[in-house]
Amino acid sequence: MEIWAHRGCSQMYPENTLTAFNKAAVLKGLAGIELDIQLTRDGHMVVCHDEDVSRTTDGIGRLCDHTLAELKKLKIDAGDGKYERIPEMAEVLDLLKDKMQNGLRLNIELKNSIIPYEGMEEKIVSLIERYNLQDKVVYSSFYARSIEKIRKICPGGVSETAILDNKVSDCLYKLKGGCGADALHPYWRGMDLPAEEIRRYTVRAYFSGHLYPEKPTGTKLDLTALEQKGITDVFLNEPERYL
Ligand code: G3P
Ligand code: CA
Repeated sequence: MEIWAHRGCSQMYPENTLTAFNKAAVLKGLAGIELDIQLTRDGHMVVCHDEDVSRTTDGIGRLCDHTLAELKKLKIDAGDGKYERIPEMAEVLDLLKDKMQNGLRLNIELKNSIIPYEGMEEKIVSLIERYNLQDKVVYSSFYARSIEKIRKICPGGVSETAILDNKVSDCLYKLKGGCGADALHPYWRGMDLPAEEIRRYTVRAYFSGHLYPEKPTGTKLDLTALEQKGITDVFLNEPERYL
């Protein structure tokens, strides 16, 4: 089973922050890190999960209504009087590029199923090319058209693509319906097809586990049981407990 850090080490540190990514990057045996990208009002690519900034920062309102400068003023509470800022995608690549050159992978989820973010595909593909990390990334989205577009603009198909949905059957439906993703990214409870039917695919499952500052539950997943359902990789908030 391949282990990925979901939004970085997001149980122990604030999700999608440089600290959460840094903590994940040093884990031995980690397959990669997952993160979420969106566009600011002035067109900059930033890393943040929610379309609204109020859950993770001291700000309010939609992320896409803020400029980068406005977003950079927002604080992400990291406990003990410390705080983080919403990172720009380029800052994350600056942090991770050496580890990525040595094999660490990055799953970039384009958060564009609610707000379509015109041009985000071109922006992220060109940024990844600038860092020469094409073969280290997996682009994913719930929005099939976006994956289709990424496949068209990614020269040589060097980067991997993946389609997200709640059920693995819906991932497969979108894949066969034309988006042509390389991998399936279902919710772990959505494994509604026999394992034999999906055996030829990479199936990376995501979870709804606890996130910082919630306390860890102490429970541990049965990875063997998940493997038997056809899951090949898992996105975990606490990857450090499984490596
Ligand atoms: O990419 C897997 C997973 O992150 C998708 O769900 O809501 O955590 O972005 P979400
Ligand atoms: Ca995500």
